[in-house]
Amino acid sequence: MSEQQRAVGEGLTGDDLLEGVEVDVEVERYAHGGHCVARHDGRVLFVRHTLPGERVRARVTESTPGRSFVRADAVEVLRAAPERVERRCGWSGPGLCGGCDLQHVELAAQRRLKAAAVAASMERIGGLDVTGLLAPEAEPVAGDESGLRWRTRTTFAVDDRGRPGLRAHRSHEIVPVDDCPITVRPALATGVLEQDWEGALAVTAVAPSVGDPVLVPVGERGRPLHEVPRVTEAVATPEGERRWTIGARGFWQVHPGAPATLVSAVLEAAAVQPGDRVLDLYCGAGLLTLPLAEATGDGGQVVGVEAAGPAVDDARAALAEHPWVALVASRVDEAFGLARTDPGRRRPRRGRTRGGPRARHDLLPPTADVVVLDPPREGAGAAVVAAIADLRPRTVVHVACDPAALARDAAAFVARGYELSALRAFDAFPMTHHVECVATFRRADAV
Ligand SMILES: C[S@@+](CC[C@H](N)C(=O)[O-])C[C@H]1O[C@@H](n2cnc3c(N)ncnc32)[C@H](O)[C@@H]1O
Repeated sequence: MSEQQRAVGEGLTGDDLLEGVEVDVEVERYAHGGHCVARHDGRVLFVRHTLPGERVRARVTESTPGRSFVRADAVEVLRAAPERVERRCGWSGPGLCGGCDLQHVELAAQRRLKAAAVAASMERIGGLDVTGLLAPEAEPVAGDESGLRWRTRTTFAVDDRGRPGLRAHRSHEIVPVDDCPITVRPALATGVLEQDWEGALAVTAVAPSVGDPVLVPVGERGRPLHEVPRVTEAVATPEGERRWTIGARGFWQVHPGAPATLVSAVLEAAAVQPGDRVLDLYCGAGLLTLPLAEATGDGGQVVGVEAAGPAVDDARAALAEHPWVALVASRVDEAFGLARTDPGRRRPRRGRTRGGPRARHDLLPPTADVVVLDPPREGAGAAVVAAIADLRPRTVVHVACDPAALARDAAAFVARGYELSALRAFDAFPMTHHVECVATFRRADAV
C-alpha cells in the first residue's frame, strides 16, 4: 500500500503515541516555545522543526501517560510551507542542538510567528485583545540583518571528555559542535570550541562591545573556576555613548543591538518628564536606569531595585555622576515589604522558606510618576503588580522576555485600573523562539 493511500500511524490511537512512534500529521498553529500544534486521534502533539500548514512525519520524543499532549520532532517534511528554508546550521534539527528552534524558517516569517505567539498569549492567558496594538512582525533590533552571528554571550556545556558542545532539546545530552552560527565570531575566535575543558562543566564565551572577548569556565553549581574577568559595554543613549563595566557573568542583553533598541523603546514608552520620580525595577547594572535618569534630570528622582549585589555595584559605578539616582540592593518583592513571591511556581520549592512580610525599604517612595520593570522570565507576579499600582504611576513600562508571564502581569495591571496602551515585540533572539516585549500601561483615570 503506498504512502498516499495510508499515512504512517494510521490506526494508532492517541494512547499509542509512545516515545519513538511516528505518525503523519497536519500541522496547525505555532505556539510560543518553538513548536507547532498537531493532533492525532484527539491527542495533541507539540511538534518542533515544522511550520503551520505543513504535513510532516512526527516522531514522538516525550510521552507521559495521562497527559493530554506529547512532544515530537518533524523527522520528514511531506508537504513544506512556503516559509521553509534550508537550515543555516548543521547542528540544528531533530535530535541535535536544542538552542535554535526556528533555523528552518525564513527570517521575516520567524518574526510573524513571534508576533502571533505574543498576541495569542495576551489573549489566551491575559484575556487581552491586542489587535491594532501589536505590529504583525516582531521588530528587528538595531543592526540585525541576517539573524546570524548576534549572540555575544554563549555558554557551551562540557562533556565528560572535556569537549564543549550544546545541549540537545530538553536533554542533558551534549551535542559536540565546532561552530555556532548565531554566536558572534570574536567569541568563537577565542578558540573556545577547540580547547579541552576537562574539569569544567561549562564555559561561557563573552564578546563585549569594547575590548577583547573573554572565557569563563565554571564547575559545580555554576561556580567560576577562575576569577571572573570584567568587561566593558558601550551603549548609545540620547545624551551620547555611555559605558558600563560589569562582571563577565553578570546580566547583559546578549544581542549587541538590543541595549540601544530597548533603551529607545523604553524611553519612548515611558515619556519621562524633567523632574519626574521614576522607579526602575529589576534594574541589573542600570542599562535603563541611566537613560531614565538623564530624562528626569537632576530635578527628578530615580530609584533602581536589583537583587544581584554585584550588578548593583556595577550600576552604582555607572551612575556615580547622577546623585539623584538611588540604588536598592534587594529583591523587588522584599523592597515593597512583601513576602517572597515566586510567580513562576504554583507551589513553593520544598524545604525553602518564603520569608514573611518585612518592612518596606525606606528608599522606595510612596508614589511614582513612571515605573519601568524588567523582571526575569517568570514575570513580576500579582503581588508586585499590586504594589506598583499602589504607587499610582501614570505610566508603567513592562519589559518582558516571556509572553506568558507578560500576559499574566498585564491582566493584573488591567485589574488594577491600568490599560494596555502600547505593545511592541522585538526579535532580540533570532533563530530561537525567544522574543522581547515592551508593554506600556497607562492609568485609566490619568489625564
Ligand atoms: C531581564 S534582567 C534586566 C536587567 C536590566 N533591565 C537590563 O536590561 O540590563 C532582570 C534582572 O532582574 C534581577 N532579578 C531577578 N529576580 C529579581 C528579584 N526578585 N528582585 C530584584 N531583581 C531581580 C536579575 O538579577 C537581573 O539583573
